[in-house]
Amino acid sequence: MSTHAPITVPVVRERKSGPKLTMVTAYDHPSASIASEAGIDMILVGDSVANAVHGFEKTLSVTLDIMIIHSAAVERAKPHSLIVVDMPWMSYHVSDEEAVRNAGRLIREGGASAVKLEGGANRVETVKRIVAAEIPVMGHLGLTPQSVNAMGGYKVQGKAIEDAQQMIADARALEEAGVFSIVLEGVPDVLAAAITEAVNVPTIGIGAGDATDGQVLVFHDVLGLGGGRYPKFVRSYADLREQAIAALGEYAEDVRSGAFPSEDETYHVRDEVARMLADGGALSDTTQPSSSPSS
Ligand code: KIV
Repeated sequence: MSTHAPITVPVVRERKSGPKLTMVTAYDHPSASIASEAGIDMILVGDSVANAVHGFEKTLSVTLDIMIIHSAAVERAKPHSLIVVDMPWMSYHVSDEEAVRNAGRLIREGGASAVKLEGGANRVETVKRIVAAEIPVMGHLGLTPQSVNAMGGYKVQGKAIEDAQQMIADARALEEAGVFSIVLEGVPDVLAAAITEAVNVPTIGIGAGDATDGQVLVFHDVLGLGGGRYPKFVRSYADLREQAIAALGEYAEDVRSGAFPSEDETYHVRDEVARMLADGGALSDTTQPSSSPSS
């Protein structure tokens, strides 16, 4: 259990004036507990669980039920960090009624305190409806992975003047709709700075330079748990994948050589019982073994 003070939505809002907000993704009990103990402000149960944990290519593959399972596991760690959960693709696109109902399930069944959804001016009505149901909403602009097919790939967004102006307008529209914070993903640093200046809610950057009010990274990337290459904006602070491979290799070697388990890692009985068992006494004293464990 963490010793840090609990982070709430109002606390996050107040941090527009600093200190910078920290957020990482977490998808299960141990990762949430580690993030909380490290003093991370917000845990994002991101739909990146699709790639990081389930091995899917796109975030489009995860469902509301999958997000609820991961969010509930994170919540059971009782982190001090604010739990924000991603609304997966198609959970808020069909109608605002469905969006509110699905956001409610993420809060009630998933134990999160807030939801995040992707999009700008096109999501304003949906955001308003969810906020009106007393569910805090975090926005997400820029490279929005749920739009990968519409965007034609994972590309930095807002490089052209009209696109940059549209993103600033989107951020203002989201603020007006009631979001408490906005993630800016894959946008040039100067645009992220302009958006951060343009809104009164904290911006959280990922691949958006250093001017945002906070930063978010994927748990597996920060700790070097994913195989393969990381995007340019990732900084890995450990190489846990290599350490895990080495540790498991050592374990396997010890099993094969008989070095594991040792005497200290083994349960024992009194000498007389051991002697009786070694003499085959157990067989003469034992009734017929049952086929059913419960009988
Ligand atoms: O799902 C996720 O990990 C995210 C972050 C990239 C912000 O949405």
